[in-house]
Amino acid sequence: ENKTLPFEAIGDGTLHRLVDAFYHRVGMHPDLAPIFPDDLTETARKQKQFLTQYLGGPPLYTNEHGHPMLRARHLPFEITPVRATAWLGCMAEAMDEVELEGPVREDFYARLYLTAQHMINTPDDET
Ligand code: HEM
Repeated sequence: ENKTLPFEAIGDGTLHRLVDAFYHRVGMHPDLAPIFPDDLTETARKQKQFLTQYLGGPPLYTNEHGHPMLRARHLPFEITPVRATAWLGCMAEAMDEVELEGPVREDFYARLYLTAQHMINTPDDET
């Protein structure tokens, strides 16, 4: 069987443009910007590394930072259902911007949706 990895189907160039388009939106979003650093350069660099391995590419994130332990790394931040929806909205708009379409987009987004739900650690009414 000859299965193409999502990382290969999307391509490194499109993935990097996606992450840049995503953090551009995060930095302007009223529900998200307050919990992110002002300078998103390093955040975007780590996210490019993480999403590369999440999509089946080389383990760039783990090689530099160790096991992702994503939920634990998000515990210092109040991740509410509203913020998860905002995060996913920024991602959907970024996917539109870089014209990521078809089954590869649907599968990627479906996984991100589940991961985003898993990051929620605070109810909406506590913020
Ligand atoms: C880091 C928020 C979902 C992957 C961060 C940071 C914040 C954040 C505030 C710290 C940024 C920094 O200090 O540089 C959120 C919110 C989410 C969410 C509000 C909504 C559910 C996700 C999802 C993924 C993800 C779904 C992966 C698919 C990462 C990675 C980092 C990160 C890889 C960098 C961790 C590190 O410091 O090494 N996120 N995040 N996040 N997030 Fe999220």
